[in-house]
Amino acid sequence: TIFENPKVASIKVANRIADLIRKKQSENAPAVLGLATGATPVGVYAELVRMHKEEGLSFKNVITFNLDEYYPMQPDADQSYVSFMNKQLFDHVDIDRNNINIPDGTLKLEDIPAFCLNYEKKIAEVGGLDIQVLGIGRTGHIGFNEPGSAPNSGTRLVTLDDLTRKDAARDFGGKSFVPTKAITMGIGTIFHAREIILMAWNGKKAPILKKAVEGEMSGEVPATYLQMSDNVEFVVDVEAASLL
Ligand code: GLP
Repeated sequence: TIFENPKVASIKVANRIADLIRKKQSENAPAVLGLATGATPVGVYAELVRMHKEEGLSFKNVITFNLDEYYPMQPDADQSYVSFMNKQLFDHVDIDRNNINIPDGTLKLEDIPAFCLNYEKKIAEVGGLDIQVLGIGRTGHIGFNEPGSAPNSGTRLVTLDDLTRKDAARDFGGKSFVPTKAITMGIGTIFHAREIILMAWNGKKAPILKKAVEGEMSGEVPATYLQMSDNVEFVVDVEAASLL
């Protein structure tokens, strides 16, 4: 779906999330959200915060699982995805902190596999992800599933692509300060979501969006695997769609 600008598109996506939260509330059930970081979803979170403040949208029944976190990463570091989520969403709504799940960047290496299995287990235990929101990296990554990721991959430790680290350099004050690794939900984890919304704005994303939507399905561009699913919607602005 192509929108005139990111603002209108973000409001549309936020409304879908809010509808889900309200529907689940009326059923006395949790709404399980898979969340993404990066510049792309910022407008969605801002609109959700507005709906909380101005329309009384409650997050009491919301359980969240974030896609990824850098490794190693202290949660209170400015660049952590924990800090990002707090700043953009969690600090401004009435979510129960116990319902927030973000991969732990402080684990010892040997503890990561068990943590990742448990992350998958926790998602399954609450009934699976209702909606997964995604951005897309210029390597074609979703979450931090870089080129070479398998379509059935689960949550795991991965090595970041050079281009991904270059794109993150500004946040870290130079590429050499960007962690080389991350913990990410897998493509398989993402696929289990009942609804997947991939968002992309601006011309910088146009070439990778064209590959993701129209390119041959391949591990070289992990986002192309989304072509296999019936539950995916690409929500983009005119500029990101300019090469389609
Ligand atoms: C990071 C995140 C991804 C995100 C991507 C795009 O690598 N791990 O989940 O989709 O950046 O970022 P942006 O939205 O800032 O373009």
